[in-house]
Amino acid sequence: MSKIIFPEDFIWGAATSAYQIEGAAFEDGKGESIWDRFSHTPGKIKNEHNGDIACDHYHLYAEDVKLMKELGLKSYRFSISWPRIFPDGDGKLNVKGMEFYKKLVNLLLENDIIPNATLYHWDLPQKLQDKGGWTNRETADRFADFAGYVFKELGDLVPFWATLNEPAAAAFAGYAAGVHAPGLNNPEVCLAVAHNLLLAHGKAVKAYRQLGLKGKIGIVLDMWHNYPATDSEEDIKAAWINNNTINKWFSDPVFKGLYPTIPGEPGQFGMSLPEVQQGDMELISTPVDFLGLNVYSRNVVKANPDIPNGIEVVPQNGAVTDIGWEVYPQVIYDLLTLLHKEYNGIDIYITENGAAFRDTVNSEGRVEDDDRVDYLRRHFEQAHRAIEAGVNLKGYYVWSLMDNFEWAEGYTKRFGIVHVDFDTLTRTPKNSALWYSEVIRENGF
Ligand code: FCB
Repeated sequence: MSKIIFPEDFIWGAATSAYQIEGAAFEDGKGESIWDRFSHTPGKIKNEHNGDIACDHYHLYAEDVKLMKELGLKSYRFSISWPRIFPDGDGKLNVKGMEFYKKLVNLLLENDIIPNATLYHWDLPQKLQDKGGWTNRETADRFADFAGYVFKELGDLVPFWATLNEPAAAAFAGYAAGVHAPGLNNPEVCLAVAHNLLLAHGKAVKAYRQLGLKGKIGIVLDMWHNYPATDSEEDIKAAWINNNTINKWFSDPVFKGLYPTIPGEPGQFGMSLPEVQQGDMELISTPVDFLGLNVYSRNVVKANPDIPNGIEVVPQNGAVTDIGWEVYPQVIYDLLTLLHKEYNGIDIYITENGAAFRDTVNSEGRVEDDDRVDYLRRHFEQAHRAIEAGVNLKGYYVWSLMDNFEWAEGYTKRFGIVHVDFDTLTRTPKNSALWYSEVIRENGF
């Protein structure tokens, strides 16, 4: 087998997010977030799990950085909890919260691990939710204030920033499907929520530029590329519609300054178009340095006039991971080449890709997750293929550094390359971590 070698400066990393790993949910002055509230609401999370303790990374961060160093990670993507720093979302600062991230960032730098910080990975301060959350345009201003403060404190130290993680999930899973915090079933407000999230992004990028900082800033978007179930004209059109509306709802505004046009009847999805004020689209399209792409799987779709939006996702028979997502590595190549073309060769980082499997520690203390090794290898191959095709892919972050609180699934889905025993909090690198470590060292495989 010929060797696959990545570009010399390729950034290999692993990702996590604050609520999923930190724990210390009510410690050192941290305020309540919508995920604290949601996970403590009976019936919302599998097994009534919550993030009160999670991986206890807030206390064990030094051990975790040591582990990253041992694995040879070049970079670590984490998120900053807004209510840890501003417990009410605005106003009073919680110095202790800020200190935690300073300690983390400094330790990463001492270990030659590049910090990559995301400012919003879904844990909105509950106090802002009480004022409407993302349905309230002013939340975007509060976010810009929070971002501006963090830039002043850490802007010189952190070379990579993302404003938002997966705003589509925040808007649709949070406000329409209700399966994520704040758990609303109100599709009517979804696109207004999306617009306010985009405004928050634009305002934060502007704040970053105004400070004249030298690092790079971008946004992290998730895409499930759609493939037609058959060659019929209807199915091809169904896939086209999803790829050109839902999938571009955030990227077109950011990179082109406009929303995609929804073909057919406006309001056919039960959603109302947002009120766009003068100057909004200019703000939202303030130039960024990269696109962060979270990609896990694909959708196969067919036209079905009998369901509300006319497009049905068709389950596939092939291999799936423990969360039910089809293993389809080619989606990486297809999406990367498409985005490269669509957005003028923008630098792209895969900010999340990985798989959940039912991992256990065996009697020899090993986690034999060969299915995850296989998943990662095949996805890395497609990323490499995209680079060869000219895509400016600059880095790859595996989701996740360690098993953690998987939102509505609680602790039942293990995405880590490091196993976490949630009773003892013991970390055990899985075979995939050892394999990944080798890939990083060789810059290929
Ligand atoms: C993404 C989220 C991340 C994690 C993975 C599995 O949508 O950004 O926090 O839950 O899915």
